[in-house]
Amino acid sequence: MLTSYTLAHVIFYKTIHSLMMVGWGGNNGSTLTASIIANRNKITWNTKEGVQEPNYFGSVVQASTLKLGVDAKGNDVYIPFSDILPMVHPNDLVLGGWDISSLNIADAMTRAKVLDYDLQRQVRSELEGLQPLPSVYYPDFIAANQSDRADNVIPGNDKSVHVEQIRKDIRNFKVNNHLDKVIVIWTANTERFASLIDGVNDTADNLLKAVKDSHEEVSPSTVFAIASILENTPFINGSPQNTFVPGCVELAERHSVYIGGDDFKSGQTKVKSVVVDFLVNAGIKPLSITSYNHLGNNDGKNLSAPQQFRSKEISKSNVVDDMVAANQILYKEDEHPDHVVVIKYVPAVGDSKRALDEYVSEIFMGGRNTISMYNTCEDSLLASPLILDLVILTELMTRIEFRTDEKAEFAPFNAVLSILSYMLKAPLVPHGTQVINALSKQRTAMENIFRACVGLPPQNDMLLEAKVQANRQ
Ligand SMILES: NC(=O)c1ccc[n+]([C@@H]2O[C@H](COP(=O)([O-])OP(=O)(O)OC[C@H]3O[C@@H](n4cnc5c(N)ncnc54)[C@H](O)[C@@H]3O)[C@@H](O)[C@H]2O)c1
Repeated sequence: MLTSYTLAHVIFYKTIHSLMMVGWGGNNGSTLTASIIANRNKITWNTKEGVQEPNYFGSVVQASTLKLGVDAKGNDVYIPFSDILPMVHPNDLVLGGWDISSLNIADAMTRAKVLDYDLQRQVRSELEGLQPLPSVYYPDFIAANQSDRADNVIPGNDKSVHVEQIRKDIRNFKVNNHLDKVIVIWTANTERFASLIDGVNDTADNLLKAVKDSHEEVSPSTVFAIASILENTPFINGSPQNTFVPGCVELAERHSVYIGGDDFKSGQTKVKSVVVDFLVNAGIKPLSITSYNHLGNNDGKNLSAPQQFRSKEISKSNVVDDMVAANQILYKEDEHPDHVVVIKYVPAVGDSKRALDEYVSEIFMGGRNTISMYNTCEDSLLASPLILDLVILTELMTRIEFRTDEKAEFAPFNAVLSILSYMLKAPLVPHGTQVINALSKQRTAMENIFRACVGLPPQNDMLLEAKVQANRQ
């Protein structure tokens, strides 16, 4: 069914839909897979706190609500976020993917040490049959300490063969599972940045030629992005590296295939984009933001190498820029708070990441205000629901077209899907457009676009109905 509104139209029919993860055997990939199976089969498990039921907490789509409006008595009316438009349910996703490690997803889940043993025990038999496809491995792009798990790689050094193999994998997966659509997500190790070189990755044609020439600066993640785009399959980058070199963005735009990135925004950066928004909008001037992390999972091990840490440092660094630039009373042009990020690998804490943040701000009459925070978070349990949101919202966006006035033609969104910014640390936006990091604005953008699709006006918080005098009602 096709419904038509002034600003947007949406295809409402449900599709058979799938998620293919690059890095499927990692902490995020195995945790998400096991958790979907637990939800789908309503598996409960024993913990020392008692019996636990599966859920999708941490997913905006599955576990948050949005305000529709007010009822006749002036009370707010909320609906589940997932009810505003027809969205794919995570339990219906067909899952697949690639990993350079050959472990099946059951053994990968055990290696990850994230989920409770009693849950692992119950999902094991279903996960044992899930085997990651061999993947593209260029050792130079991830930390040397990852080499011992790379026993499942596509042979050879010819990058055009690698692109073709990934394209074939996507096609086969679609056919074998009778799928309408696939979305590919990079949840593999953080890579080093690729050097931006004129003639190599600056345009789509040069990038395709660089693949043909097996140029050393074409990264595995860019190989996956190119293959996905050529298969008309949206591609999301959940890690910080510059997968979307300019030539790759141009390729996506040329083929009108959605891309989104970069780097899942699960913890510290999400809090930062709220705290700094609050401080700056309260007229308080952050002078320094100092962030210290330690973690002990395989992500932390990979990030202990300098070049991979540098990718993460870059993706975490710009998160307050738009909020600072918006207040010229507090900040002169080009003035920024000091911002430092440290990440250390401490194997003993496993997936339970510690993030310590200190915000020092200038307040009234030269005074100082210091906020210190300590966050202990289960890294992969925060990141996994974000993967779901990214997939579900990207799939939804493939069914929405919009126009800016009634005479214009309906058209899809720009290939760079900035509506996904809420879930991403360093949001990729269409060339020349503003990056928004403030979390509340990112959320409002999503809500209002979806409201427009069902003919509702943008949400506002004027609450006029509560402010008029009684004798005027
Ligand atoms: N809270 C979070 O967990 C979080 C937040 C933001 C970003 N991220 C990013 O998400 C990514 C995954 O995190 P994780 O904790 O699952 O890491 P992980 O190390 O447990 O898993 C990564 C997996 O990728 C595989 N891999 C590496 N290179 C590959 C390639 N070329 N092709 C296919 N597979 C490959 C590895 O074998 C491993 O199984 C990391 O880059 C991390 O920085 C995670």
